[in-house]
Amino acid sequence: MPWMDPDKSPDARAALLVAAMTQDEKFQLLRSRFAIGEHKPAEALTAAGYVAPIPRLGIPSQGLVDAGLGVTNPGGAREGDHATAMPSGPATASTWSREVAFLGGQTMGREAWRQGFNVLLAGSVNLQRDPRNGRNFEYAGEDPLLAGTLVGESIRGVQSQHVLSTMKHYALNDMETHRNFHSAQIGDRAMHESDLLAFRIALEIGEPGSVMCSYNRINGVYGCEHDELLNNVLKRDWKYPGYVMSDWGGVHSASKAALAGLDQQSAGEVFDKAVYFDRPLRMAVDAGVVPQARLDDMAHRILRSLIAVGAFDHPPQRQPPDADLDAAGFAVAQRTAEEGAVLLRNAGELLPLGADVRRIAVIGGHADRGVIAGGGSSMVGWTSRGPNAVPGVKPTTWPGPVMFQPSSPLLALREAAPQARVDYADGSDRAAAARLAREADVAIVFATQWSAESVDLPDMHLPDGQDALIEAVVAANPRTVVVLQTNGPVTLPWADRVPAILQAWYPGIRGGEAIARLLTGAANPSGRLPVTWPVDVAQLPRPHVPGLGFNPPQKPEDAIDYDIEGANVGYRWFAAKDLTPRYAFGYGLSYTQFALSDLTVHADGDRLTARFEVRNTGARAGAAVPQLYVHLPEDHPTPLRLAGWDKLELQPGESRQVEVALAPRLFADYDPTTRSWRIPAGRYRVALGQSAAEIAETATLDLPERTLD
Ligand code: BGC
Repeated sequence: MPWMDPDKSPDARAALLVAAMTQDEKFQLLRSRFAIGEHKPAEALTAAGYVAPIPRLGIPSQGLVDAGLGVTNPGGAREGDHATAMPSGPATASTWSREVAFLGGQTMGREAWRQGFNVLLAGSVNLQRDPRNGRNFEYAGEDPLLAGTLVGESIRGVQSQHVLSTMKHYALNDMETHRNFHSAQIGDRAMHESDLLAFRIALEIGEPGSVMCSYNRINGVYGCEHDELLNNVLKRDWKYPGYVMSDWGGVHSASKAALAGLDQQSAGEVFDKAVYFDRPLRMAVDAGVVPQARLDDMAHRILRSLIAVGAFDHPPQRQPPDADLDAAGFAVAQRTAEEGAVLLRNAGELLPLGADVRRIAVIGGHADRGVIAGGGSSMVGWTSRGPNAVPGVKPTTWPGPVMFQPSSPLLALREAAPQARVDYADGSDRAAAARLAREADVAIVFATQWSAESVDLPDMHLPDGQDALIEAVVAANPRTVVVLQTNGPVTLPWADRVPAILQAWYPGIRGGEAIARLLTGAANPSGRLPVTWPVDVAQLPRPHVPGLGFNPPQKPEDAIDYDIEGANVGYRWFAAKDLTPRYAFGYGLSYTQFALSDLTVHADGDRLTARFEVRNTGARAGAAVPQLYVHLPEDHPTPLRLAGWDKLELQPGESRQVEVALAPRLFADYDPTTRSWRIPAGRYRVALGQSAAEIAETATLDLPERTLD
């Protein structure tokens, strides 16, 4: 078996293999089977997909498991398997830390490998265009550079463990409701300068073995039969050597999809109208409609990706969990939650809670038992701490159950503030909660918003009367802290009256501990928003979107017009429309302060760099996240773009010189006619700030015209 020689390149090995395969063996690779419940092939592990091995040729089986936010175990069917429930995607993105993103991916990859899987359905990088998208908690915010970089690092982390990662959902699957039907309408240039740029950056950094095409249509064509996006953009322009797998239920044709660039159909026997990549595709190949060369290419792409990641040479070894590795995974989850939580407000420096705090009232959010998590295929239902901490919250069936990770903020606070008496009221009785708050030195309300795959949120409000609960508590005790655990931005009608607000996103299996350490100052908040926080939906490109939420009164629309904002997603939209959000992209407070100064920018051929100084001017150690935005010339449709950042730990009084590479593509515009990026000659203003709206200094850079890839 010459293809087993690890010294040969993945492509050479795959070519040798394809030459040795029968037609049936090739077809076997082109479809995965659903491996959950009654459909599960006997020898498969319960998970989203399975492809049988071909022992004659030494081709391993493919075990596909969902792992957006930790390795999943659907229904707990794989007895004994548990995983680290990572914080949500926006929590990781809020760290602005390449290292944290990599470690998260590495943790998921290692756990998957030890559970016997070699393909992770991870790498979610759809841009957040609307806070109501039910799946924002799986994604990495609104900016192509930040999201693409961090998701790319996470993919790299997964694949460092010999486990192949996908990158998904390609492309423009930016809303969930009606996702199988609606068309995302957007012009070429806008698409390349927003969502596609995020995918491209993630691809360059992470080199994912597979790309998962999305359910929705893009400009009228399904994601999984989109010749332009799959063949022309991904495989030709971006030189992507890996394979495209469909989302579960995303295939609508055989030859059309295969010719458009789809390489593997996922679980078609359950989710699609037909197993298109079996009999229908065989007929199309026999009839010459799909060339044999294309069929060979499909098999080649799958094999070369499996080989490249090490799935042949380092096959997964299923084994029981290991307590030390579990602890290492939990430590990564906790670090992510601590670095990802964003301190939004801290009037009068109410936080951190000092040693003089004697009575704390903890209210609501099931904080006595755990922290909330999002629903759908990414849900980790079982960790070494056991299953759902709050079972029975509706909906209990798909896309539920509503999951609470067993990590109690109440218990963690009792540990972190041993001098204080910490009492709990569940918040169901507003008057009782207010009474408890009145008797305490500080009240902490835990507010939650559950969100799930397949359904968008109807609005931006906290559900179940939680705004009224917060109002009642802060009226009883002005020293009130609100800890949010939400999909993303929500309306904060009480923001001016509540002195301290901490956004903890969905903080994962060590969320309780992380929150307690942040509130008591054992950890200093350093998270920065990866999304703009609108005041309310009126500020969004589409204030009213019909048909969102469960059982909506109106029908959803068949097309979503993304050309309204085009490439101006998030902070770019707010700048273009001169809108002031509640909190700007990049914003987040610390228990210390930082000063930025002495900005200079340099162009040295292809290298663009910014140099400046960062000083910790406060009294505590903390992490600064200086950000660089390029302001495009006056008449440009996009006012500004994030072009680089750094994150650095500084002791009190410490200052450091920093050099940051600026991404040339963020100075460039995509030209659909030449299919290339061009930096127009001109004078560029580069702004250094602590958020998109808080600029310390600017410098100018004169650039000649240049064409990029
Ligand atoms: C989701 C994917 C997921 C797949 C398999 C689909 O519903 O959109 O993200 O990987 O299911 O579970």
